[in-house]
Amino acid sequence: MESFRLTREEAEALAARHQTPFIVISLAQVEKQYDMFRRNLPRVNAYYAMKANPAPRVLSLLASLGAGFDTASAGEMRTLAEIGVEGARMIYANPVKMPEGLRTAARLGVKRMTFDDADEIGKMAELAPGAEVLARIRIRNDKALVDLNAKFGAEPEEAISLLRQARDAGLVPKGVAFHVGSQSISAEAYEEALLVCRRIFDEAEAAGMRLSMLDIGGGFPIPMAGMESTDAETMMRRIARQIDRLFPDTELWAEPGRFFIGPAVNLVTSVIGVKRRGEEFWYTIDDGLYGTLSGAIFDHWTYSYEAFREGPKGRATILGPSCDSIDFVGRGVSLPELQRGDLLLVPDCGAYTSASATTFNGFSKAKELYYEDIATTRRDSVRREMTA
Ligand SMILES: Cc1ncc(COP(=O)(O)O)c(C=O)c1O
Repeated sequence: MESFRLTREEAEALAARHQTPFIVISLAQVEKQYDMFRRNLPRVNAYYAMKANPAPRVLSLLASLGAGFDTASAGEMRTLAEIGVEGARMIYANPVKMPEGLRTAARLGVKRMTFDDADEIGKMAELAPGAEVLARIRIRNDKALVDLNAKFGAEPEEAISLLRQARDAGLVPKGVAFHVGSQSISAEAYEEALLVCRRIFDEAEAAGMRLSMLDIGGGFPIPMAGMESTDAETMMRRIARQIDRLFPDTELWAEPGRFFIGPAVNLVTSVIGVKRRGEEFWYTIDDGLYGTLSGAIFDHWTYSYEAFREGPKGRATILGPSCDSIDFVGRGVSLPELQRGDLLLVPDCGAYTSASATTFNGFSKAKELYYEDIATTRRDSVRREMTA
């Protein structure tokens, strides 16, 4: 998979016009990611997990391409409604929902939702009567960077009882949902989860409850520094084969977040301080853990840092600008010797970055730019335009 990458000339020309830090979003790359997903998993309807990055033009683009949206709150549903996305194109995939979220879902016509405990059933029945519900089950997968199953998912053996209780409460039991964990490099985790779901579908049928929907969650991987390389397309094709084998007639959803937006964004940041600590250089940059690089904590992410300076490389530590000593964003990073004012480019940083950035300590969030506003037609003309 090829990610979006600003050239050195582009990054420098932009930095001459905009104060760093800034992020550049490539809508063309988002479209490429969406197309890749649809091509390899043609039977799976994609509901973008907007928590990964709710940038307005990314949402509008995906809506125009035909994607649906995975929402977790009333706020996310309202954001989508404001840009004209109908409730029928949203799913409410937060197993434990706020009353305000359920009321908003009912008002906007968001009928499909997931749950993983009996306690949720009464709430859904009262505030979103007639909702179509999927029981989310727990999947064990040690090949995912972020283990979402520590917090979510009923045991698979509980699924039928949960769906039956939902039916008895006046809800419409439709199927099963799972999430193998975010940034999963294992196709086997999906294949095994699909087998578990097949068993649940068969047992439900034998118990007189025909299920027709399956939600395979998110988790599709993108390049990450220090992680073995992933061939997401081969992985998706394997999943598609297992789906065809086990679920030839079932309506399928997925909730990709990272895969659609992660490779479409670059951060451009500047070195604001250089210290020597023992054998290492420590570079303080103008974005950090409380800003775009928040994923170093919340997302367990290891970012790549690319410098535009030549020279022999050594091990460096990268720090954010805040006064908090937790603000280390990179350790053991291989970099040439840098100077104050040098730019660093951080690729593949679209997911779980700006979405969870704060203004802690009074630092502004990185400005958001769209590559399409800078680029007109060809790269060459782009450079000319930017350096003019
Ligand atoms: C319910 C749910 N769906 C989808 C996603 C998106 O996962 P990913 O970004 O790994 O595709 C998440 C991530 O936290 C999630 O919690």
